[in-house]
Amino acid sequence: MADWLKKYMLMHKNIPVADIELDTVSGAVFSVGPVWEAAHVPVGIPVKSGTVDRKAFNEWWRGRSIPASRMGIREALMELKISDTCLLLEKSLGLSLSDQYWIRPAGSGLLWEKVNFFQNPFSEDVGNILFGKGEVSEAVSLMSPDNTSDGWLKKKWKIIEGKRCLIKGGSGAAWQEPYNEVLASRIMDRLRISHVSYALITEEDYPYSLCEDFITEDTELISAWHLLQTSKKPNHVSLYRHYLDCCNKFGIRGAECAVNRMLVLDFIIANEDRHLNNFGAVRRADTLEFLGMAPIYDSGTSLWFDKPLPMIHAKANVICKPFKNSHTEQIKLVTDFSWLDFSALKGIDEEFREIIGDSLFIDGARCSALCRALSGRIEMLEEIVRKGKSRIFVDSTKNDVAENIAYSGSLKHRK
Ligand SMILES: Nc1ncnc2c1ncn2[C@@H]1O[C@H](COP(=O)(O)OP(=O)(O)OP(=O)(O)O)[C@@H](O)[C@H]1O
Ligand SMILES: [Mg+2]
Repeated sequence: MADWLKKYMLMHKNIPVADIELDTVSGAVFSVGPVWEAAHVPVGIPVKSGTVDRKAFNEWWRGRSIPASRMGIREALMELKISDTCLLLEKSLGLSLSDQYWIRPAGSGLLWEKVNFFQNPFSEDVGNILFGKGEVSEAVSLMSPDNTSDGWLKKKWKIIEGKRCLIKGGSGAAWQEPYNEVLASRIMDRLRISHVSYALITEEDYPYSLCEDFITEDTELISAWHLLQTSKKPNHVSLYRHYLDCCNKFGIRGAECAVNRMLVLDFIIANEDRHLNNFGAVRRADTLEFLGMAPIYDSGTSLWFDKPLPMIHAKANVICKPFKNSHTEQIKLVTDFSWLDFSALKGIDEEFREIIGDSLFIDGARCSALCRALSGRIEMLEEIVRKGKSRIFVDSTKNDVAENIAYSGSLKHRK
């Protein structure tokens, strides 16, 4: 065998899934198969007649590595003298704190209990280097879940009081994302939306958000992107409908309710980055049983985070994902607002002011504009909900019960 090829077994906890060969020069998957446990092949990778689609598998593998867009990654790779983030994956056996896949060196007999990051300590070396700290020496350990962390913001995993926690930074001059994560948590507390709770911490004068791992040694996150790869979307079906159909196919309960809540949150905070890897579902790794939708995470790219002061206002045009390209259109997909208690949001603007506090990055003028714009978004949403109700009321006053039922039905199934 060529000396640049290395044999591994793709593992799902202790279940052997498929033989793979890694190209140790590029970090790419050279070959995959035979498959030992087709049901445990990562969600969304096609397996036909016992053969794994190598392109899809390679994309999945590359997708586990730190993206090339990560802030500071070039400098970190230079420091580590490693040419590609894909090569870092191999150094930590592809282990993650968001799922249970890993690669076992062929013939090693290594057990998941011995290596996983949920139960074993891990090095903070990579995290520190990603944060621009820490010298690379002979003693540096690359055994870190940071090698498999996604997303463009600077981030690192750290064990705090025995808990696996993700510490994440901000961007630009306002460095606003950590404050936004905390505000989104508070909004979801008030509206009783299932979410990951983010707190604010400070390291060397910079604010960071801190959240606990919502995945345990028994579970894993399957992103909407991977769920959607499991069947081709017919042209006449919207992405929204197709996503709910995919969730239904897997027997995932509560998808529509969870999406309703996510779209409401995203409208309020003018979220610009709810892409298909920023939400999903959770399943048990051993039984493959879906437990439900994932709690909402990663809501920081919102609240005019990269806009200059004059552009911060409730009606400002912002990017919208994933189902529509405007929030005004996307909010129309919500099939039920009856759970939404606007009175619970009273004073949330003042809470945002307190969260921002005496930030070195967000001055008083920006803070006031943000609080005002946040209140404006809530008022806009109230207006939308009110109008929706009055339309139903007008229909019912026509005393045409059948028409009214049809209307609420179309609200429920609107694409
Ligand atoms: N609390 C958590 N528990 C487990 N996995 C998590 C948690 N938070 C984030 N992740 C995983 O890490 C990935 C990156 O985190 P996150 O989305 O917060 O980063 P980001 O840099 O803001 O991403 P983006 O590029 O989407 O802006 C997520 O897509 C998810 O797979
Ligand atoms: Mg993200």
